[in-house]
Amino acid sequence: MSHNSFGHLFRVTTWGESHGPALGCVVDGCPPGLSLTVAEIQAFLDKRKPGQSRFVTQRREPDEVEILSGVFEDDRTGGPVTTGTSISLMIRNVDQRSKDYGDIRDKYRPGHADYTYDAKYGVRDYRGGGRSSARETAARVAAGAVARKVIPGVVIRAALVQIGPHKIDRSKWDWAEVDNNDFFCPDPDAAKAFEDYLDGIRKAGSSVGAVIECVAEGVPAGWGAPIYGKLDQDIASAFMSINAVKAVEIGAGMAAAELTGEENADEMRIGADGRPVFLANHAGGILGGISTGQPVVARFAVKPTSSILTPRQSIDKDGNEVEVMTKGRHDPCVGIRAVPVAEAMMAIVLADHFLRHRGQVG
Ligand SMILES: Cc1cc2nc3c(=O)[nH]c(=O)nc-3n(C[C@H](O)[C@H](O)[C@H](O)COP(=O)(O)O)c2cc1C
Repeated sequence: MSHNSFGHLFRVTTWGESHGPALGCVVDGCPPGLSLTVAEIQAFLDKRKPGQSRFVTQRREPDEVEILSGVFEDDRTGGPVTTGTSISLMIRNVDQRSKDYGDIRDKYRPGHADYTYDAKYGVRDYRGGGRSSARETAARVAAGAVARKVIPGVVIRAALVQIGPHKIDRSKWDWAEVDNNDFFCPDPDAAKAFEDYLDGIRKAGSSVGAVIECVAEGVPAGWGAPIYGKLDQDIASAFMSINAVKAVEIGAGMAAAELTGEENADEMRIGADGRPVFLANHAGGILGGISTGQPVVARFAVKPTSSILTPRQSIDKDGNEVEVMTKGRHDPCVGIRAVPVAEAMMAIVLADHFLRHRGQVG
């Protein structure tokens, strides 16, 4: 009943808190014989780690990953390889400032998980949000790097497509731009506009929400399952499990409600190679819970960071009405660092479904 695990055959369990000595994950079910180095995992953690621009939290965490188990190397393996046993990964917390959180020891930040954790457990690690802190997502990113090794033919990329009311121009989408700005934004002009907008939000001590889109290419037709194991269902669950996510869409998503059947139909023809070709992808690459062979496209919205400098009305654990102003270091828009987390969760879901598909139909 502790709900720290995700996935079936490729199963990830995360552990650790924001201000504990370390956090990490255990990845169970990874096939043996896959090459896996610290550097490969670190590359993804480096994209998520804090303090990389003025638009993210200034907490300084190197987020250096250590492989504790499940990987072995000798003169016959040609480098470190997975052994098929559980892979344990650890990231030490080095830049905690627990005293920043003394003010909210007994007060509930509106919009954060303080009240609900107390209501449920009666005891709460208030330092940085404890287990409810998105530091936990570092462990997901590490696990996602392992998941990618299980499905090497699949390319998984995510991008930030909206901050507050400001959306990208989708006609300017260029994946190569995603690594050229501080926002993981595929539209360079929008990235410039995001800078000015988020500077204003940040200087005001405020925060804002965002939309992230994740695309997986190279998923063959047939992964996923009907009814209770739908691929879109599992992606939605994976994304919704990320801190601050309030909505998930697959393909056309909410906009599908405005389409007619003619508009929404992803018509099919036979391509020059004799294989099916879809003329559109409103389905986001999934029909009946099973992948079509088209790119799998999913999107989620994150709410504005709840920890803001403007005092907000709240209550404390003794039932007093109080004002809360959150000190500490926070992301003015959590959507930026959620981009690598989106990719990781997509990779974990797809690796799990690949193994489940192989398990059932060979
Ligand atoms: C990458 C990332 C970074 C986050 N950073 C912060 C932060 O600095 N301050 C904060 O109050 N919330 C932050 N959050 C959101 C909280 O973790 C989240 O709102 C909180 O756990 C309550 O859970 P819920 O919003 O999912 O209901 C972040 C979320 C993500 C995905």
